[in-house]
Amino acid sequence: VDEATRVSEIVEDCRQLEGPLLPILHRVQEEFGYIPEQAKQVIAKALNLSRAEVHGVVTFYHDFRDHPAGRHSLKLCRAEACQSMGCDALAEQVKASLGIGWHETTPDGAVTLEPVYCLGLCASAPAAMLDGEIYARVDEDCLTEMLAEVRK
Ligand code: FES
Repeated sequence: VDEATRVSEIVEDCRQLEGPLLPILHRVQEEFGYIPEQAKQVIAKALNLSRAEVHGVVTFYHDFRDHPAGRHSLKLCRAEACQSMGCDALAEQVKASLGIGWHETTPDGAVTLEPVYCLGLCASAPAAMLDGEIYARVDEDCLTEMLAEVRK
């Protein structure tokens, strides 16, 4: 099944719901990993919205992405215990070294950076998660090394 057909099927499944747009976007993202441009058009047409309205919703909610995620996912904890251990400054360093902001992916498609709110390692803050593995007491050097390792 091609992308547009599959998106139309999802729209049909959800359109009887009250406020079908968010459930539809969630399902499209689940299946494709992001919201493809073409999907926005199919959804807009089916729900009698403009493409710009659908696009606005996609960009408003950080759960949705416009582009495929990077091959590696780096999540930095931004909750309280990690805040108190300097996670904000660490995040700024990581953003600068990757050249991206939150919810963005490096231009080579390697790494997507996301915030996360508590990884359960508060006693060993700051914490990070790389490709599903949790790391305690991270600093810029070890994150740089970890990223270099996975990007090889
Ligand atoms: Fe960061 Fe709990 S606050 S791991």
